[in-house]
Order: sequence, then structure tokens, then C-alpha cells
Amino acid sequence: MTAHSSSFHAIAWHEQSLHLLDQRVLPHTHQILKYHTAADVADAIRDMVVRGAPAIGITAAYAYALDALAGRDLDQAYKVLAESRPTAVNLFWALERMASLGTDDPHALVAEAKKIHDEDITANLDMGKFGASLLNDQCRIYTHCNTGALATGGHGTALGIIRSAVTQGKVSQVYAGETRPWLQGARLTAWELMQDNIPVKLVCDGAAAQLFRQGAVDWVIVGADRITANGDVANKIGTYSLAVLAKHHGMKVMVAAPSTTFDLTLDNGTAIPIEQRPMSEVTSLNGQPIAPEGCEAINPSFDVTPAELIDAIVTEKGYVLNPTVANISAMMVGNG
Ligand code: MRU
Repeated sequence: MTAHSSSFHAIAWHEQSLHLLDQRVLPHTHQILKYHTAADVADAIRDMVVRGAPAIGITAAYAYALDALAGRDLDQAYKVLAESRPTAVNLFWALERMASLGTDDPHALVAEAKKIHDEDITANLDMGKFGASLLNDQCRIYTHCNTGALATGGHGTALGIIRSAVTQGKVSQVYAGETRPWLQGARLTAWELMQDNIPVKLVCDGAAAQLFRQGAVDWVIVGADRITANGDVANKIGTYSLAVLAKHHGMKVMVAAPSTTFDLTLDNGTAIPIEQRPMSEVTSLNGQPIAPEGCEAINPSFDVTPAELIDAIVTEKGYVLNPTVANISAMMVGNG
């Protein structure tokens, strides 16, 4: 496995089973759950035991291998995993890559899943270098959701760029948006950054506008769940608001994602399927109701940020500034 600095593993293959660090109970409880079937892993993805686009893809690849080990029907494994969450295209990319091997040999499939995992770490380390090169010295960064080692094979995408920039001495402050309703920023990003002694301040989602108005931020750096051919980006709900705010206040927006997050079959973001999650995630907190009984809510898990609000998209292949169909397609074929 490619070396990266995190002291924990969100996803691990161990003695023919899949181990997932339960992200629902972090940071105060460290619970490893063990899986032996693709159906149970699909539930784990849906229930947010593991989350983050690249991590979901890697997990699905291992889950497919689990069913091969047990001699179960791989078409069924593919189907049940593909139905777990709709927005992150990495899930479908990973399943296609596993199925396209055209084998039910468990050894070959476990090896392929490990390769997908390893390639993601390498991609993040490369992305870290490209992204960090775009940042100014003493950079003040605002990030949203969690895009770190928990959300990927390791190191992270947006958080990987922050890690790489910190090792170059370029970061003076990171602000982590709390990210309602799942609080990935408060529970996961703040925890990952504090473990690495990176200066982080937690921000209520609603406080971002005032912070930007004070001129306290240079770059907003976020991840992605799906990027279309023209550079529109689906990411955690709240990303679009941040991009609009950044534009208004003259701050720059960077999106970091591996090439496995691109869906070049879609012309633009209007066709991206947006996951709608249960109302109860908004009307309650830690199982306790916070809204009147019977109150309705909307809970889209992702939004789409149009390409014109994005200054840079960074991948392991390089980066594009002011994304367009032409510069994205050039980068994806290796001329970025
Ligand atoms: O609902 P989640 O926690 O899976 O959403 C995660 C995000 O939106 C991340 O920003 C994205 O997947 C990129 S993770 C490197």
C-alpha cells in the first residue's frame, strides 16, 4: 500500500473481510465494523458508515470481491451496490472496473480492489502537489464537508491539498464548515486536521458569509462527487452557496478530485442525480427531535456548482483554470 501519513484506516482488507471505521460515531468513538457480504456493505454505504466519493468507490470494489470469495452472484452484488447511493460517480466507475475484468476469480478481484485503493492514494498525493502549487503563501483556506483520509483511500483530495500545502509551510489558517446535517466538517475534518496539528477553526455554515466579508479567506477548497464535461461540480450540499459567496467577495474556489470523479458522459450538471436523504436527518440531531413533531423538511445531500464559479479544478493529471469543455477534455487525456 502506498504510504500516507494518516494514523487510521477508514477502509481495510483484513483476513478475507472488509473492515470499515464507523464514521457515524467519530470523533468520540472508534468502532471498526467487519463485513462479509456485498449486501451488508451496500447498507453501510447508504447508512454513512463509510462516505466520501472515492472511499465509496473503493469500498464497493472490495464488497464485490467479498461476494466473489463466497461464490455469490456477482451481477446481484453489482446491482445491490449500485443502488446504495446515486450521486458519487466513483461508485459506478469502481463497479464497472471490477465487472470489466470478466472473472469471478476471488484472488484476481481482491487484487483489483487493492489496486483501486492504492491508485487512489497515489492520485491524492499527486493532486496535493498540483493544488498546493496554486496557493499563495500564508494561505487562509475554507473547506466544506470532509475530503480527507476518511473520504478517500488516504491523504485526501481537498484536504490532501491542504496537507501538502502545510508541509510546504504555505497555510496560516484552515476554516472547516460544520456541514449540516451530517456534520462531516465538525466531526471528521476538524478531527483529521487536529490530529495533524494543522490550525483549524470550526465555522457554523451560516457564518461563512460574514467571515468572507471580513476578508479572512483566500481560497475555498472542496472535493467533488461528480464533475461533468463542462466542469459543473456536484458536491456536498452547501458548496454552491460557498462558491456564490466566494465570487461576491473576490475569493477563489478550487475543486479537487481524482479523474475517477469525472462523468464525461454528462454535458453539464443538470443531469446529475442528486440524492435525497430522509427528512429525519434534518428534523433531529443525534436521534433527538429538534423540530416540531410532523414538521416536513428537504434534505438534498448534494448541490451543483456551475463551472463559471470555479477558478481551478485539480486532479492527479494536472489542473485546469476557469474550466471549459476543451481544457477539461485536454487534461483528461493527459495534456493538462
Ligand atoms: O455525503 P458524503 O459525506 O458522502 O459527501 C461527501 C462529499 O460531498 C465530499 O465532498 C466528496 O465526496 C469528496 S470526498 C474526497
